[in-house]
Formats: sequence, C-alpha cells, structure tokens
Amino acid sequence: MVADVTIRPAVEDDLSDIAAIYAHEIANSVATFDLEPPTPAYWHQRLVGQQVGDHLLVAVDDDDVVGYTYSWSYRPRPAYNLTRETSIYLDPSVRGQGIGRQLYTVLLSTMTGSGVHTAVALVALPNPGSVALHKACGFEHVGTMREVGFKFGQWVDVEWYQRMLV
Ligand SMILES: CC(C)(COP(=O)(O)OP(=O)(O)OC[C@H]1O[C@@H](n2cnc3c(N)ncnc32)[C@H](O)[C@@H]1OP(=O)(O)O)[C@@H](O)C(=O)NCCC(=O)NCCS
Repeated sequence: MVADVTIRPAVEDDLSDIAAIYAHEIANSVATFDLEPPTPAYWHQRLVGQQVGDHLLVAVDDDDVVGYTYSWSYRPRPAYNLTRETSIYLDPSVRGQGIGRQLYTVLLSTMTGSGVHTAVALVALPNPGSVALHKACGFEHVGTMREVGFKFGQWVDVEWYQRMLV
C-alpha cells in the first residue's frame, strides 16, 4: 500500500525533524559516512541553497515530517553546476510504503524544472532499499568504488547512480 503523505518544500521549522532522522541513520547505519551529526547551520544552508537546482523537500504525515530529500552541489567547481547530487532519508517507521519514491519523483521533477542536466547519487553498500529506489526512479548504476569508507569497524563499498534530466 502506498502511504498518503504530503510532499512540500521544507521550511525552517522542519529542520530539527530532518536533523533527527539523519542523526538516527548516522548512529545506526553505513548508509551515510558521517560519524557525528552535522550542525544546525549545515541544515540551514541546505534550506536556503542559492544555486540552481538546490532543493530541500519533506514528506509530511499528519504534520509529522517522516522523510526528506535534497539536491546539492556534486562538486564545487563551476563546470559541475548543472550536475546535482541527491540524498534521501526516511524515518525507519515509514520505509517500504512508497514514500521514498514519491519524494524522489517530486525532487527529480523540481530539478528538471530548474534546468538541472543530470542527477547523481552515491549508495553505500549493502543498501537494497536505496539501490531499488534509485533504479525504480530511473537512475542507472554507473560505477562502484571499493572500500572507500570505514565505519563500524568495516570497509564499505559505494555505488554511483546517475539519471539524465534535461
Ligand atoms: C532508501 C529509502 C529512502 C527508500 O525509501 P522507501 O520509501 O523505503 O522506498 P519505496 O517504498 O518508495 O520503494 C521504492 C522502490 O524500492 C523497492 N524497495 C524498497 N525497499 C526495498 C528493500 N528493502 N529491498 C528491495 N526493494 C526495496 C520498492 O519495492 C520500490 O520499487 P517499485 O516502486 O518498483 O515497487 C528508505 O528505505 C530509507 O530512508 N533508508 C534509509 C536511509 C537511506 O539508506 N537513504 C539512502 C542513502 S543512499
């Protein structure tokens, strides 16, 4: 069953919920290579991103933020400007109900509307949910890097995914 949520641009009041979802993943998973939660300023920066194709969206269920996704700089050098890297995290209680797909679908169409040329995403392995989500949303696997992360006492491989937009 697909969950009935509202997808909308994030506002300042959402940032603490977004930070809490991400902090849980930092502490419990290799999906992110962060080891400590980022500062509030980090999330504020994502909210007010000034570059073409910077977007931060949330999925809201009964006023609760249950997930978020954003697009951001892939690398800072200006020739990369129309390539944006995407990221997505949901509260564990709502995974596997179609919310990730709804969030990413809106993000990708918003990015397309802003003229972003291509989206790229990094998936640390193993992460069957994220691999399935990216493929379901039209991303292709374009490369694998072996043992580039070290977290929870183990080396972690990452896969790159890419979707052309315009
Ligand atoms: C990855 C994540 C965002 C996916 O969101 P989700 O709402 O659980 O995924 P959806 O229910 O929208 O499913 C999307 C597709 O992936 C498939 N899928 C979802 N979870 C899966 C799993 N664990 N194993 C295999 N396939 C899975 C679904 O069947 C669906 O495919 P379909 O539309 O062709 O049927 C979510 O699980 C999550 O937040 N995980 C932890 C954080 C994370 O890993 N973020 C990504 C970092 S790269």
